[in-house]
Amino acid sequence: MYTDKVMDHFQNPRNVGEIVDADGIGEVGNVVCGDIMKIYLKVEDDRIADVKFKTFGCGAAIATSSMVTEMVKGKTLDEALRITNKAVAEALDGLPPQKMHCSNLAADAVHKAIEDYRAKVVAG
Ligand code: FES
Repeated sequence: MYTDKVMDHFQNPRNVGEIVDADGIGEVGNVVCGDIMKIYLKVEDDRIADVKFKTFGCGAAIATSSMVTEMVKGKTLDEALRITNKAVAEALDGLPPQKMHCSNLAADAVHKAIEDYRAKVVAG
């Protein structure tokens, strides 16, 4: 039912954890199931220098979190903002239809973390 990529990222999630001195933090909750995802960013020269995540959710949510961290690491903030939840699900070779809502968190959490970073920069 799950693709090999989903199983791989679920069993060996990349970039799990927390960045204590993060430049931006994004937290989103899934309205469908109540699961929560938190993304921490370190930003240097407008690029994502480091990214970590903590997800309290199902296997598909953990796999999408892990995949999105790999997709955005090293990208500029604008490039990362263009990554969609759908693109993350596609990078995992898809999710079962009843688990598609689990991919609603990943890109959203990254986008929120970027907004958080930009709000802090503007505030000085
Ligand atoms: Fe909640 Fe998958 S069941 S994110």
